Amino acid sequence: MERTLSIIKPDATKRNLIGKIIAKFEENNLRVVAMKKIFLSREQAEKFYEVHKERPFYPTLVEFMISGPVVVQVLEGENAVAKNRAIMGATNPAVADKGTIRAEFAESVEANSVHGSDSLENAANEIKFFFSDIEIVG
Ligand code: CMP
Repeated sequence: MERTLSIIKPDATKRNLIGKIIAKFEENNLRVVAMKKIFLSREQAEKFYEVHKERPFYPTLVEFMISGPVVVQVLEGENAVAKNRAIMGATNPAVADKGTIRAEFAESVEANSVHGSDSLENAANEIKFFFSDIEIVG
């Protein structure tokens, strides 16, 4: 069993896609063990994406992530990190596999509807970023 962090991004919350996205997780045996809808502060968005600080897209990524509410979740299941990434599809929706969240819902490489941790180690850190132990009820 693994846990991973998922974020439903502002482009998706704006278009009322929260339920459709969560259905994809549940259909693939990932369980939502923690969830909240929040507005990220600029400081939080900057800190969360700090690894991308030097990338040219960092400033617009931060603006995008604070442009509307997000839903942060802890997903639990077998191989949850890799499984979630497979369900999300490639970062760029133009090349994402058919049936993935990004192929179906994403608007662009930036407004790509979901974030998912890319390793077990990052998952643990990202989960801690948003949730305390007592908020995880799996
Ligand atoms: P995410 O999985 O949240 O991780 C970093 C985010 O940066 C990514 O999804 C996209 O939203 C964004 N991103 C990655 N590459 C680019 C790019 N080339 N141009 C704009 N945004 C990008």
